[in-house]
Amino acid sequence: MTLQMDGSLLPSASVTHQRFARDVFAGLGAPQKTLSPKWLYDRAGSLLFDSICELPEYYVTRAELSIVQRRRREIAAAWGARVRMVEPGAGSGTKTRLFLGELGALRCSSYVPMDIAREHLAQTTSRMRAELPWLRIVPVCADFTAELPLPPSDEDSCNVIYFPGSTIGNLDPPDAEHLLLRFGVAAGPRGVVVLGVDMKKEPATIHAAYNDASGVTAAFNKNVLVRMNRELEGDIDVDAFDHYAFYEPTIGRIEMHLVSRKRQTISVAGRKFSFVEGESIRTECSYKYDLVTVERLAHKAGLSLVNAWLDEQRRVAVVELRPV
Ligand code: AVI
Repeated sequence: MTLQMDGSLLPSASVTHQRFARDVFAGLGAPQKTLSPKWLYDRAGSLLFDSICELPEYYVTRAELSIVQRRRREIAAAWGARVRMVEPGAGSGTKTRLFLGELGALRCSSYVPMDIAREHLAQTTSRMRAELPWLRIVPVCADFTAELPLPPSDEDSCNVIYFPGSTIGNLDPPDAEHLLLRFGVAAGPRGVVVLGVDMKKEPATIHAAYNDASGVTAAFNKNVLVRMNRELEGDIDVDAFDHYAFYEPTIGRIEMHLVSRKRQTISVAGRKFSFVEGESIRTECSYKYDLVTVERLAHKAGLSLVNAWLDEQRRVAVVELRPV
């Protein structure tokens, strides 16, 4: 990790490369082959995810945006007189921009976008700088699931750890609990953790959101194979894998897989991995919540659920958590 002149923190490209290789070796060597969803987000993956957010079937982004558009004043009212907004996993920042605009120069001391995708982070930062020239932005390129390296802050600001987009759903419950615990610590006693959460609902709606008719989600899923070929000298025939996503209502979880169309052996970073026909790599889980489950999870992480705002169809919630 290197501290830059503007206070931002960047890991070297070779560190990311080593972590990717290590995760691929461990994940593809397991009985159920698995890859962490964080590797879906290289430049191409981040752009594909932006396209997913525009899909008619993918309600998650629109529903959460509608909450922020209508209720941002009320949501931000309780955050304190001076706020430092920290956004782990900052994507294109649409909802954040609305909150930053609401806070304005008087209340917002700085904005800290944090993302593992270096180029995407740089683009988000320069766009935000152009759109909100009054705002002090300190980008941090980091894997927030492993570390939350916050730059020093002025003492009168309280931290708002803003984690929109239902990204909490991509963590298994123990990991979600651990992350919330670290968010609570990073927020500090006067701070707030604000999450976007996708709610449990009829399975057909969820199924359609991850199996869109135009195939963007399939391309997003398969892009991790393209990335392995490019960054880890892989020899994977991307067309020999199918996108497969299914919802398990009793768990409240959708799983995304890449299913091998045939018996085959692939090579990645000099190691070989064999597949039988129909064997899959699980590339993502996306948990859906209800408010009772959110409350229970928050409680285990030392946080209490203080407030929740839902969209009209109760598909998505924005929740406010505070250290107990
Ligand atoms: C980023 N995350 C909350 C998305 C989700 O809905 O789990 C990622 C995604 N995967 C497929 N479509 C969208």
